Amino acid sequence: MFRFHIRIVLAFFAALLAGTVANAETLTETSPDGQITLTVSDDGGMARYALAYRGEAAIAPSQLGLLFRDHHGFDGHLAIAGSTRAASDSTWEQPWGERRVMRDNHRELAVTFAASEGPARSMTVRFRLFDDGVGFRYELQEQDALKGEVNVMEELTQFAVGEDTQAWWIPSGLFNRYEYIYRNGPASEVETAHTPITFRKASGVHFSIHEAALVDYSAMSLQQQRPGTLKARLSPRSDGALVQTTAPFHTPWRTIQIAPDAKGLINSGLILNLNEPNALGDVSWVEPGKYVGIWWAMHINERSWGHDGIHGATTEETKRYIDFAAEHGFNGVLVEGWNVGWDGDWYYNGALFRFAEAFPDFDLAELGAYAQSKGVRIIGHHETSGNITNYENQMEAAFDLYQKNGVATVKTGYVADAGRIARIDENGVPRYEWHDGQIMVDHHLRVVREAAKRHIAINPHEPVKDTGLRRTYPNWVSREGARGMEYNAWGSPPNPPSHEATLAFTRMLSGPMDFTPGIFDLRHNSRPPVRADIPRHDPENFAQTTLAKQLALYVVLYSPIQMAADLPENYAKRMDAFQFIKDVPTDWEESVALDGAVGEFVAIARKKRGSDEWFLGALTDENPRALTLKLDFLDPGRRYVAQVYRDGDKADWQTNPYDMAIYEQRVRAGETLTLPLASSGGAAIRFVPVGD
Ligand code: NOJ
Ligand code: CA
Repeated sequence: MFRFHIRIVLAFFAALLAGTVANAETLTETSPDGQITLTVSDDGGMARYALAYRGEAAIAPSQLGLLFRDHHGFDGHLAIAGSTRAASDSTWEQPWGERRVMRDNHRELAVTFAASEGPARSMTVRFRLFDDGVGFRYELQEQDALKGEVNVMEELTQFAVGEDTQAWWIPSGLFNRYEYIYRNGPASEVETAHTPITFRKASGVHFSIHEAALVDYSAMSLQQQRPGTLKARLSPRSDGALVQTTAPFHTPWRTIQIAPDAKGLINSGLILNLNEPNALGDVSWVEPGKYVGIWWAMHINERSWGHDGIHGATTEETKRYIDFAAEHGFNGVLVEGWNVGWDGDWYYNGALFRFAEAFPDFDLAELGAYAQSKGVRIIGHHETSGNITNYENQMEAAFDLYQKNGVATVKTGYVADAGRIARIDENGVPRYEWHDGQIMVDHHLRVVREAAKRHIAINPHEPVKDTGLRRTYPNWVSREGARGMEYNAWGSPPNPPSHEATLAFTRMLSGPMDFTPGIFDLRHNSRPPVRADIPRHDPENFAQTTLAKQLALYVVLYSPIQMAADLPENYAKRMDAFQFIKDVPTDWEESVALDGAVGEFVAIARKKRGSDEWFLGALTDENPRALTLKLDFLDPGRRYVAQVYRDGDKADWQTNPYDMAIYEQRVRAGETLTLPLASSGGAAIRFVPVGD
């Protein structure tokens, strides 16, 4: 500490004597494979960084810095006062995940900038360079210049991506949180963007900006500053600051994943590598699996959350789902609408929810026992409608109740317009927060920790975005945070044919998504209503995919918990296709993205954990295409029976979505396989090894 202070003071006087401009210093470091070059400088008294990939600029020189409300910040008059370097190459294991063994091979450069005007002070920017990208974070030591409460008022971080670089993004700061259709165009057209935001350069190099380990801070989205230069935009707190903290503190990692092609981004492990190791110890109680539930019926107005004569969550109906789950090997049954609070306009009535009080037609104790007697568990639900004080007041009792009844996973929900999370502060004052502000970042972790004490896993909808915290808290199994299947029930417009081929290269880079795939009745809103006074939604709302593409989603969109979202009676009509959903696992030894183009198509292979079976999912946008895939991911020298579920020759999402070819084919590692995909179609394959 003492030596550190001396260095700052020396650098301060050196800067005063020499003038920062004349003595500009530049430091460089490369990724372990030498393909990524980082440059850090104090040119012009500004902290700046730049990234090049294979000699081509990815991020042109871009500013670094922070501003505070009551303290001097770090924008100009900065000089590099010191730096340290390190390197590390290790492996670690995921308790569950898209791959078991993770390699963390990185070099590190930590650069300390000291200010030459105002009070003596310094900030360190720590960079980690991996072969698949770079992360950096600000670290602020305890120092005289940062005494007391520190309110971050601006983060100056820039990402100069270039005007013409192609981008895929969703806007930030709008009412629907992360639930927007992806936009695509040159980076100069981005106004605001949530992360991950994905880019493609003319050379074919792809990169994606996001963040890792978002803890006790506000989420970062991006804003266009000058054409082609995006700037960090932290979600504000209701008290005006962006972040409230005390030194020492550090920010989350700002991440830039880089790859020579689109599929390389999916194969990156950078976000998880930048998170802290498991903090929960033995997490064998976190069980990946598949579930069905009292859910889609409500979204398509077949049933209802509240009591208007078609209540979904009744004891009898839940038993029907438990029986179906047990018969077909699912380990969970989600039940929404069982607790007091759903009657009336629940979107606006968050204060009315009672999380430990059931409606009279639902018997949690009976159902918890019934489910467990059949090897199934109820999946609990806590819809808060964005009222977090009402929820936190009841949370412990609510988790206790679930634990008592064998509930091991709880889906939470924060349905409320962005910026309309309601809470009462410590002085009794009502406030509104953003879904991705510091208050909510803290709230989600409180929920996850409280649940962990009772061996319960959490799956939030309308969440804060994923930043890889499942590594530290492995009971944070999945989340929403994008347009999921529900938009095909009532979305107006529903998700377009390019949606999932975009998600794979954008939202999915952040972590698992509870997309809830597997809709088999693709024209649900064209059916007569269950009651004349409860009309169906507009028939324009339906899943704009073929049936085969619905199956492909189980492999393409990774989540350790996957729903079979449609009604049991719709699966009963297509047991041939349903067999794939029964067979596909949700926990993987290895995952390999094979091919793809952002928003156009993607093919991913995954090896089942604890088994020699492989699975493959491929899907396309509205353009039909024949995919030729090399089966070099299969174990060398082995033969397999491929159980193929693909679009039939006449399949088309608009005119003939159900046409599907299901057949077996013998294949060997290294062979090529050609898959014809229909317009908005897909293919799903299970590879079972056979003896030679
Ligand atoms: C929105 C969620 O995304 C959906 O899954 C849920 O059914 C409703 N909110 C009600 O909680
Ligand atoms: Ca939602």
